[in-house]
Amino acid sequence: MSRLLVNACPRGAASRTLRLAEHATGLLGGGFERLDVYREGIVSLTPQTLEKRLALCAEGRFDDPLFAPARRFREAETVVIAAPYWDLSFPAALKALVEQLCVIGLTFFYDESDQPRSLCRLKRFLYVTTAGGPILSDEPGFGYLKLVMRTFFGAEKCVQIKAEGLDLRGADAEAILRKAMREAERLLAPAHS
Ligand SMILES: Cc1cc2nc3c(=O)[nH]c(=O)nc-3n(C[C@H](O)[C@H](O)[C@H](O)COP(=O)(O)O)c2cc1C
Repeated sequence: MSRLLVNACPRGAASRTLRLAEHATGLLGGGFERLDVYREGIVSLTPQTLEKRLALCAEGRFDDPLFAPARRFREAETVVIAAPYWDLSFPAALKALVEQLCVIGLTFFYDESDQPRSLCRLKRFLYVTTAGGPILSDEPGFGYLKLVMRTFFGAEKCVQIKAEGLDLRGADAEAILRKAMREAERLLAPAHS
């Protein structure tokens, strides 16, 4: 069963969020495939791609390249998402990925009682984020993603690892990151994970 690290950090090697996420995936034993939303050019649905997607769904043609991210996601038992805290949530490219993942008939379906049911293997979802200032609320960042992972994809365990205040005047960003890594070690210790 696969493990997936979703990288929604546009700053590449300079990203503190990705560094923290890679520490977390190491704690989980490694072996993560990468889905890089920027490198793979994940974009939100447009009138054209929505029409194409609806036609493909109606014909059950889920082997189309349009569904490649959703097919990969469906096989993952553990998903780690790394995304910086932007504008009180996360980069729009990550929301675009959510649009690509929520595909009725491929990653979830509605049962006879109109309840969403997962078609994914997902058990554990870990969200990693870092912020320049304070994270004012888990909504609409981690809270929203947790709702999606639970409601549509059946995640049983959802955990957030965060580092805040990295860009504040006089902040020791390295020390804050190290503290977040220790917290990750505590949260992901075998008894908890
Ligand atoms: C476009 C943009 C929006 C941001 N919005 C916020 C914000 O709303 N609140 C905040 O505390 N920091 C904000 N920041 C700062 C980032 O959260 C912070 O620098 C974070 O650590 C970046 O992660 P990275 O090192 O992985 O790129 C923003 C940064 C950028 C570039």
